[in-house]
Amino acid sequence: MKQNKPIAVFDSGIGGLTVYRELKRRLPGENFIYLGDTARVPYGTKSADTIVKYSLQNAEFLVSLGIKMLVVACNTASSYAMEALVDRFDMPIIGVIPSGVRRALKLTASGRVGVIATESTVQSGSYQKLLAESRPGVEVAARACPLFVPLVEEGWLDHSVTRQVSEVYLRPLAEAEIDTLILGCTHYPMLKQMIGEVLGPSVQLVDSAEALAMEIEGILTSLSLEHKGGDAEAPDAFYVTDSIPRFQRVAGIFLGRELANIRQVDLQFLPRQEA
Ligand code: DGL
Repeated sequence: MKQNKPIAVFDSGIGGLTVYRELKRRLPGENFIYLGDTARVPYGTKSADTIVKYSLQNAEFLVSLGIKMLVVACNTASSYAMEALVDRFDMPIIGVIPSGVRRALKLTASGRVGVIATESTVQSGSYQKLLAESRPGVEVAARACPLFVPLVEEGWLDHSVTRQVSEVYLRPLAEAEIDTLILGCTHYPMLKQMIGEVLGPSVQLVDSAEALAMEIEGILTSLSLEHKGGDAEAPDAFYVTDSIPRFQRVAGIFLGRELANIRQVDLQFLPRQEA
């Protein structure tokens, strides 16, 4: 039965665990397979062609495991690879950008929305374009915050260095008088508290992971794909393309618990799967 199959989530590395965490919280009855492309992270500084190529390889591997839905947790991959993925694979494929945009437009009163993301996501204009198409006249201030990724992976969520970096990155957005900020990178929800403190209560934060998880619940129901079994049948499986120990250690920071069932896979030597 299709419903019993797992939902696959892929990310450039570890950050997509923020999406996995939200999905698991909202859909405890589902089984998940997570792939973190830890050998090739970061995607956020890479070219469009490379991001598309890696994303297709990730998806091919996951589809070969027998899944019912593919979630692209990585904002950078969602910015560049959705079209290629949807063209190649015949299954529901969901990226993070549209749900973040919809949520931000629901929340903003002033129509001034900020986006923070990786360099490549900001350069792609994915958030900016979809915001403008969905609500003409919206003003968007976008800013790349590349240092947030290593700071989060270091576990410096409440560190004075992270606060200083946040103040520098977020100043132009505060000056643009945004009232809503999209956290457009997998790692940034981990800094929600710090970013909230720096920007103050007049700015509402949109956690794309949360927004996505809410929408996926609805999509599963509308496609009659929901499943209420969960871990009792098969524990969630985690795949990484680099060695396991670092992923396991940093996963503890993201999830607040130790992950089991992690395996290493080499995507470059896998036979090409037919979708
Ligand atoms: N997962 C990436 C994203 O959400 C951040 C890390 C990277 O640069 O690969 O854009």
